[in-house]
Amino acid sequence: TIPQSDIHPLSGHIGARIDNIRLSGDLPADVFADIHRLLLQYKVLFFRDQDHLDDTQQEAFGKLFGDLVPHPTVGSVAGTSSVLELDANRTGERASGQGGGRADQWHTDVTFVDAYPKISILRGVEIPDFGGDTVWANTVTAYEHLSPELRQLADSLWAVHSNAYDYAAVRPHANEDDHKQYNTYFTSTIYETEHPVVRVHPETGERTLLLGNFVQRFVGQNRADSARLYELFQSHITAPENIVRWVWKANDVAIWDNRATQHYAVNDYGDKARLVRRVTIDGEVPVGVDG
Ligand code: SIN
Repeated sequence: TIPQSDIHPLSGHIGARIDNIRLSGDLPADVFADIHRLLLQYKVLFFRDQDHLDDTQQEAFGKLFGDLVPHPTVGSVAGTSSVLELDANRTGERASGQGGGRADQWHTDVTFVDAYPKISILRGVEIPDFGGDTVWANTVTAYEHLSPELRQLADSLWAVHSNAYDYAAVRPHANEDDHKQYNTYFTSTIYETEHPVVRVHPETGERTLLLGNFVQRFVGQNRADSARLYELFQSHITAPENIVRWVWKANDVAIWDNRATQHYAVNDYGDKARLVRRVTIDGEVPVGVDG
């Protein structure tokens, strides 16, 4: 089991660093059970110095949580079943969505499909000397911090999620290539689905706000009202008290509960190299408060 002295909470509401673990596909069952329990508790876990992990090992570790699922529109790294590369500066097939591998919008991964991934595992491969941190927010505490009236409103809403989103449009200096890149790969197939705004977490029973960048609008609300409502709920998710910020080193691994978090990759490193690789674990169709 993982000793308490190796568990280091990083903020009041989300995130813990776990020391002295060598992640792999053959972790002892009790250690894996601890990691799973801590993930449900802290929502995002960080592990330093995982130098031994390559793509195959990252996939083997991921499989302990369930079936791996490739990204719906972006091809996996050659030789892997499901490793997604996010390379900040690469254009082309492997530079995935949200800005040529720059995931600088608050989002939960892949919510534009019905059963979106339940867990994501991200490995730092090339990290700038400074900048390029990632920030995670706890969508369970965000829900809990709403007033009873706003919770009731959220409980009753559904949202339309889609990857039909012009990522180039939100970039300050988007050029023709940017537009082509996003439209060719990330939105090569358009997905659209509806999710309850409040999801009941299938493992913890907690209520969690299910929003993020793929939300297009709320069902039954026009775009203007949808935008205002979105900002209202989203401001509770991204409040400084509700987040943890991780300063990456190469060979760090972050694991997050994609049913209880949003995240944002801070885009402050210009054209310096930043490359991370992710595997995601197949999830369940979200269930709202009415079952
Ligand atoms: C992601 O959105 O999964 C990637 C986050 C990051 O690049 O830090």
